[in-house]
Amino acid sequence: MIKITIVSTKGGVGKTTLTANLGGILADSGFRVLLIDADPQPTLSSYYPLVHRADHGLMEFLVNSSVDQAVSQTTIENLDIVLSNDPDGKLRDWIRDAPDGRVRLKYILSLLEERYDFVLIDTQGAVGPLQDAAVAAADFMLSPIPPEILSAREFVRGTVSMIQRLEPMARLGAPIGPLRGVIYRQDRTVDAKMIADELRRASFTPSKGAITILDTVIPNAVVYREAATQKVPVHRLERSRKGPSLSARDTMTTLAKELIPNLPDLE
Ligand SMILES: Nc1ncnc2c1ncn2[C@@H]1O[C@H](COP(=O)(O)OP(=O)(O)OP(=O)(O)O)[C@@H](O)[C@H]1O
Ligand SMILES: [Mg+2]
Repeated sequence: MIKITIVSTKGGVGKTTLTANLGGILADSGFRVLLIDADPQPTLSSYYPLVHRADHGLMEFLVNSSVDQAVSQTTIENLDIVLSNDPDGKLRDWIRDAPDGRVRLKYILSLLEERYDFVLIDTQGAVGPLQDAAVAAADFMLSPIPPEILSAREFVRGTVSMIQRLEPMARLGAPIGPLRGVIYRQDRTVDAKMIADELRRASFTPSKGAITILDTVIPNAVVYREAATQKVPVHRLERSRKGPSLSARDTMTTLAKELIPNLPDLE
Protein backbone atom coordinates (compact mmCIF):
# COMPACT_ATOMS: atom_id res chain seq x y z
CA MET A 1 0.00 0.00 0.00
CA ILE A 2 1.47 3.31 -1.10
CA LYS A 3 0.44 6.43 0.82
CA ILE A 4 0.70 9.83 -0.85
CA THR A 5 -0.20 13.14 0.81
CA ILE A 6 -1.00 16.08 -1.43
CA VAL A 7 0.24 19.24 0.26
CA SER A 8 1.02 22.86 -0.35
CA THR A 9 1.73 25.67 2.01
CA LYS A 10 -0.61 27.81 -0.11
CA GLY A 11 -4.32 27.47 -0.89
CA GLY A 12 -6.07 27.16 -4.22
CA VAL A 13 -3.18 25.66 -6.19
CA GLY A 14 -4.93 22.48 -7.34
CA LYS A 15 -4.46 19.91 -4.55
CA THR A 16 -8.02 18.61 -4.54
CA THR A 17 -8.28 18.39 -8.34
CA LEU A 18 -4.96 16.55 -8.48
CA THR A 19 -5.96 14.14 -5.69
CA ALA A 20 -9.33 13.34 -7.30
CA ASN A 21 -7.91 12.76 -10.78
CA LEU A 22 -4.88 10.74 -9.68
CA GLY A 23 -7.21 8.59 -7.58
CA GLY A 24 -9.56 8.33 -10.56
CA ILE A 25 -6.99 7.03 -13.03
CA LEU A 26 -5.50 4.57 -10.52
CA ALA A 27 -8.97 3.22 -9.64
CA ASP A 28 -9.99 2.96 -13.30
CA SER A 29 -6.81 0.96 -13.87
CA GLY A 30 -7.98 -1.61 -11.34
CA PHE A 31 -6.06 -0.50 -8.25
CA ARG A 32 -7.91 -0.28 -4.95
CA VAL A 33 -7.73 3.35 -3.89
CA LEU A 34 -8.74 5.14 -0.70
CA LEU A 35 -9.06 8.92 -0.71
CA ILE A 36 -8.91 10.77 2.59
CA ASP A 37 -10.32 14.27 2.80
CA ALA A 38 -8.21 15.93 5.50
CA ASP A 39 -9.43 19.44 4.72
CA PRO A 40 -12.08 20.89 7.07
CA GLN A 41 -13.51 22.51 3.92
CA PRO A 42 -14.82 19.28 2.38
CA THR A 43 -14.18 19.87 -1.34
CA LEU A 44 -12.84 16.39 -2.07
CA SER A 45 -15.78 14.87 -0.15
CA SER A 46 -18.23 16.19 -2.71
CA TYR A 47 -16.01 15.75 -5.77
CA TYR A 48 -17.47 12.36 -6.80
CA PRO A 49 -21.00 11.08 -6.18
CA LEU A 50 -21.33 8.32 -3.58
CA VAL A 51 -23.02 4.93 -3.83
CA HIS A 52 -22.60 4.41 -0.11
CA ARG A 53 -22.34 7.18 2.46
CA ALA A 54 -20.77 5.94 5.71
CA ASP A 55 -22.23 7.13 9.01
CA HIS A 56 -18.81 8.29 10.09
CA GLY A 57 -15.99 10.31 8.58
CA LEU A 58 -12.45 11.45 9.32
CA MET A 59 -13.30 12.47 12.88
CA GLU A 60 -14.30 8.95 14.00
CA PHE A 61 -11.69 7.36 11.71
CA LEU A 62 -9.01 9.14 13.74
CA VAL A 63 -10.50 9.52 17.18
CA ASN A 64 -12.21 6.11 17.59
CA SER A 65 -10.24 4.11 14.98
CA SER A 66 -13.66 3.50 13.44
CA VAL A 67 -12.28 2.15 10.20
CA ASP A 68 -15.21 0.17 8.80
CA GLN A 69 -17.90 2.69 9.58
CA ALA A 70 -15.93 5.63 8.21
CA VAL A 71 -15.30 4.47 4.64
CA SER A 72 -17.73 5.66 1.96
CA GLN A 73 -17.83 4.36 -1.61
CA THR A 74 -17.83 6.59 -4.67
CA THR A 75 -19.59 5.78 -7.94
CA ILE A 76 -16.16 5.00 -9.38
CA GLU A 77 -15.40 1.35 -8.90
CA ASN A 78 -12.40 0.70 -6.59
CA LEU A 79 -12.47 4.28 -5.30
CA ASP A 80 -13.41 4.72 -1.63
CA ILE A 81 -13.25 7.84 0.49
CA VAL A 82 -13.10 8.92 4.12
CA LEU A 83 -15.23 12.06 4.17
CA SER A 84 -14.28 15.20 6.02
CA ASN A 85 -16.80 15.82 8.80
CA ASP A 86 -15.07 18.46 10.86
CA PRO A 87 -16.37 21.84 9.69
CA ASP A 88 -15.35 23.57 12.94
CA GLY A 89 -11.79 22.28 12.84
CA LYS A 90 -12.05 20.42 16.17
CA LEU A 91 -9.72 17.69 14.95
CA ARG A 92 -6.90 20.19 14.95
CA ASP A 93 -7.20 20.58 18.73
CA TRP A 94 -7.73 16.88 19.27
CA ILE A 95 -4.56 16.01 17.33
CA ARG A 96 -2.61 18.65 19.23
CA ASP A 97 -3.76 17.35 22.62
CA ALA A 98 -3.72 13.56 22.09
CA PRO A 99 -0.39 12.00 23.08
CA ASP A 100 -0.17 10.13 19.77
CA GLY A 101 -2.09 12.77 17.78
CA ARG A 102 0.36 13.37 14.96
CA VAL A 103 1.08 9.68 14.40
CA ARG A 104 -2.48 8.38 14.80
CA LEU A 105 -3.36 8.57 11.11
CA LYS A 106 -0.20 6.67 10.21
CA TYR A 107 -1.16 3.94 12.68
CA ILE A 108 -4.77 3.69 11.46
CA LEU A 109 -3.68 3.42 7.84
CA SER A 110 -1.44 0.50 8.82
CA LEU A 111 -4.67 -1.37 9.66
CA LEU A 112 -5.75 -1.02 6.01
CA GLU A 113 -2.55 -2.39 4.51
CA GLU A 114 -4.26 -5.42 2.91
CA ARG A 115 -7.29 -3.56 1.66
CA TYR A 116 -5.88 -0.85 -0.60
CA ASP A 117 -3.09 -0.40 -3.11
CA PHE A 118 -3.03 3.41 -2.74
CA VAL A 119 -4.11 5.94 -0.16
CA LEU A 120 -4.25 9.57 -1.30
CA ILE A 121 -4.65 12.23 1.38
CA ASP A 122 -5.86 15.71 0.41
CA THR A 123 -4.97 18.49 2.83
CA GLN A 124 -5.77 22.08 3.62
CA GLY A 125 -3.46 24.71 2.17
CA ALA A 126 -2.24 25.76 5.60
CA VAL A 127 0.18 24.52 8.21
CA GLY A 128 -1.34 22.87 11.30
CA PRO A 129 -1.65 19.65 13.30
CA LEU A 130 -3.92 17.92 10.75
CA GLN A 131 -1.50 18.68 7.92
CA ASP A 132 1.36 17.41 10.12
CA ALA A 133 -0.53 14.15 10.73
CA ALA A 134 -1.20 13.73 7.00
CA VAL A 135 2.45 14.37 6.14
CA ALA A 136 3.66 11.96 8.83
CA ALA A 137 1.35 9.24 7.46
CA ALA A 138 2.69 9.42 3.90
CA ASP A 139 5.42 7.51 2.12
CA PHE A 140 5.93 10.67 0.10
CA MET A 141 4.26 13.96 -0.68
CA LEU A 142 3.07 15.56 -3.88
CA SER A 143 2.80 19.32 -4.31
CA PRO A 144 1.27 21.26 -7.19
CA ILE A 145 3.33 24.39 -7.89
CA PRO A 146 2.02 27.40 -9.84
CA PRO A 147 4.32 28.10 -12.79
CA GLU A 148 5.50 31.55 -11.80
CA ILE A 149 8.89 32.25 -10.39
CA LEU A 150 7.60 34.11 -7.32
CA SER A 151 5.21 31.30 -6.35
CA ALA A 152 7.95 28.82 -7.06
CA ARG A 153 10.31 30.58 -4.64
CA GLU A 154 7.56 30.75 -2.04
CA PHE A 155 7.02 27.02 -2.56
CA VAL A 156 10.69 26.33 -1.83
CA ARG A 157 10.71 28.49 1.32
CA GLY A 158 7.43 27.12 2.70
CA THR A 159 8.16 23.50 1.90
CA VAL A 160 11.72 23.47 3.17
CA SER A 161 10.60 24.99 6.48
CA MET A 162 7.73 22.48 6.77
CA ILE A 163 10.12 19.56 6.23
CA GLN A 164 12.63 20.98 8.73
CA ARG A 165 9.95 21.56 11.35
CA LEU A 166 8.70 17.99 11.04
CA GLU A 167 12.15 16.34 11.07
CA PRO A 168 11.87 15.37 14.78
CA MET A 169 8.88 13.15 13.86
CA ALA A 170 11.49 10.55 12.87
CA ARG A 171 12.12 10.06 16.61
CA LEU A 172 8.47 9.06 16.98
CA GLY A 173 8.84 6.42 14.26
CA ALA A 174 7.35 8.66 11.58
CA PRO A 175 10.20 9.88 9.40
CA ILE A 176 9.06 12.48 6.88
CA GLY A 177 9.08 11.17 3.31
CA PRO A 178 10.45 12.97 0.26
CA LEU A 179 8.40 15.49 -1.67
CA ARG A 180 7.71 15.63 -5.40
CA GLY A 181 6.77 18.98 -6.86
CA VAL A 182 4.72 19.11 -10.05
CA ILE A 183 4.37 22.27 -12.13
CA TYR A 184 0.65 22.82 -12.24
CA ARG A 185 -1.68 24.88 -14.45
CA GLN A 186 0.96 25.71 -16.97
CA ASP A 187 -0.13 27.74 -19.99
CA ARG A 188 1.60 28.33 -23.28
CA THR A 189 3.10 31.63 -22.21
CA VAL A 190 5.37 30.19 -19.54
CA ASP A 191 8.46 28.13 -19.92
CA ALA A 192 7.81 25.25 -17.55
CA LYS A 193 11.24 23.76 -18.11
CA MET A 194 12.98 26.97 -17.03
CA ILE A 195 10.90 27.17 -13.87
CA ALA A 196 11.46 23.49 -13.15
CA ASP A 197 15.23 23.94 -13.51
CA GLU A 198 15.19 26.99 -11.23
CA LEU A 199 13.13 25.05 -8.69
CA ARG A 200 15.52 22.12 -8.81
CA ARG A 201 18.47 24.44 -8.19
CA ALA A 202 16.72 26.30 -5.39
CA SER A 203 15.26 23.35 -3.51
CA PHE A 204 17.56 20.34 -3.76
CA THR A 205 20.38 21.53 -1.51
CA PRO A 206 18.36 23.34 1.21
CA SER A 207 16.04 20.34 1.47
CA LYS A 208 19.02 17.93 1.55
CA GLY A 209 17.63 16.15 -1.50
CA ALA A 210 14.14 15.71 -0.06
CA ILE A 211 12.48 17.89 -2.72
CA THR A 212 12.58 16.83 -6.36
CA ILE A 213 10.67 18.33 -9.27
CA LEU A 214 8.86 16.04 -11.70
CA ASP A 215 9.31 16.28 -15.47
CA THR A 216 5.54 15.90 -15.94
CA VAL A 217 3.72 19.23 -16.17
CA ILE A 218 -0.03 19.60 -15.72
CA PRO A 219 -1.51 22.18 -18.11
CA ASN A 220 -4.06 24.82 -17.35
CA ALA A 221 -7.04 23.42 -19.25
CA VAL A 222 -10.81 23.77 -19.09
CA VAL A 223 -11.21 19.99 -19.24
CA TYR A 224 -10.15 19.83 -15.55
CA ARG A 225 -13.00 22.16 -14.59
CA GLU A 226 -15.45 20.35 -16.88
CA ALA A 227 -14.53 17.03 -15.29
CA ALA A 228 -15.12 18.51 -11.83
CA THR A 229 -18.52 19.83 -12.92
CA GLN A 230 -19.48 16.47 -14.36
CA LYS A 231 -18.05 14.68 -11.31
CA VAL A 232 -15.88 12.29 -13.30
CA PRO A 233 -12.11 11.71 -13.47
CA VAL A 234 -10.59 13.94 -16.15
CA HIS A 235 -9.03 11.07 -18.14
CA ARG A 236 -12.51 9.77 -18.95
CA LEU A 237 -13.33 13.00 -20.80
CA GLU A 238 -10.24 13.33 -22.94
CA ARG A 239 -8.79 10.34 -24.71
CA SER A 240 -5.33 10.27 -26.27
CA ARG A 241 -4.83 12.75 -29.07
CA LYS A 242 -2.07 13.61 -31.47
CA GLY A 243 -0.39 16.99 -31.49
CA PRO A 244 1.91 19.14 -29.38
CA SER A 245 -0.06 18.96 -26.14
CA LEU A 246 -0.89 15.75 -24.30
CA SER A 247 -4.46 14.72 -23.62
CA ALA A 248 -5.65 14.72 -20.01
CA ARG A 249 -5.48 10.93 -20.06
CA ASP A 250 -1.86 10.98 -21.26
CA THR A 251 -0.96 13.64 -18.70
CA MET A 252 -2.44 11.69 -15.78
CA THR A 253 -0.86 8.44 -16.99
CA THR A 254 2.55 10.08 -17.35
CA LEU A 255 2.22 11.63 -13.90
CA ALA A 256 1.26 8.33 -12.25
CA LYS A 257 4.14 6.51 -13.93
CA GLU A 258 6.73 9.12 -13.00
CA LEU A 259 5.45 9.23 -9.44
CA ILE A 260 5.21 5.51 -8.84
CA PRO A 261 8.13 3.55 -10.26
CA ASN A 262 7.33 0.01 -11.44
CA LEU A 263 3.66 0.84 -11.80
CA PRO A 264 2.04 -1.90 -13.88
CA ASP A 265 0.32 -0.66 -17.04
CA LEU A 266 -2.54 1.72 -16.58
CA GLU A 267 -5.77 1.02 -18.39
N1 LIG B 1 -5.28 21.85 -14.44
C1 LIG B 1 -6.22 22.77 -14.24
N2 LIG B 1 -6.58 23.62 -15.22
C2 LIG B 1 -7.52 24.56 -14.99
N3 LIG B 1 -8.15 24.75 -13.83
C3 LIG B 1 -7.85 23.95 -12.82
C4 LIG B 1 -6.89 22.91 -12.94
N4 LIG B 1 -6.80 22.27 -11.75
C5 LIG B 1 -7.65 22.86 -10.92
N5 LIG B 1 -8.30 23.89 -11.52
C6 LIG B 1 -9.25 24.78 -10.90
O1 LIG B 1 -8.57 25.57 -9.93
C7 LIG B 1 -9.38 25.80 -8.78
C8 LIG B 1 -8.65 25.38 -7.51
O2 LIG B 1 -8.39 24.00 -7.57
P1 LIG B 1 -8.46 23.07 -6.27
O3 LIG B 1 -9.74 23.21 -5.55
O4 LIG B 1 -8.09 21.70 -6.73
O5 LIG B 1 -7.27 23.69 -5.40
P2 LIG B 1 -6.87 23.38 -3.88
O6 LIG B 1 -5.39 23.51 -3.78
O7 LIG B 1 -7.46 22.09 -3.46
O8 LIG B 1 -7.57 24.57 -3.09
P3 LIG B 1 -7.78 24.72 -1.50
O9 LIG B 1 -6.45 25.14 -0.95
O10 LIG B 1 -8.84 25.76 -1.39
O11 LIG B 1 -8.20 23.37 -0.99
C9 LIG B 1 -10.68 25.03 -9.03
O12 LIG B 1 -11.64 25.93 -9.52
C10 LIG B 1 -10.30 24.02 -10.11
O13 LIG B 1 -11.40 23.66 -10.93
MG1 LIG C 1 -8.66 21.61 -1.83
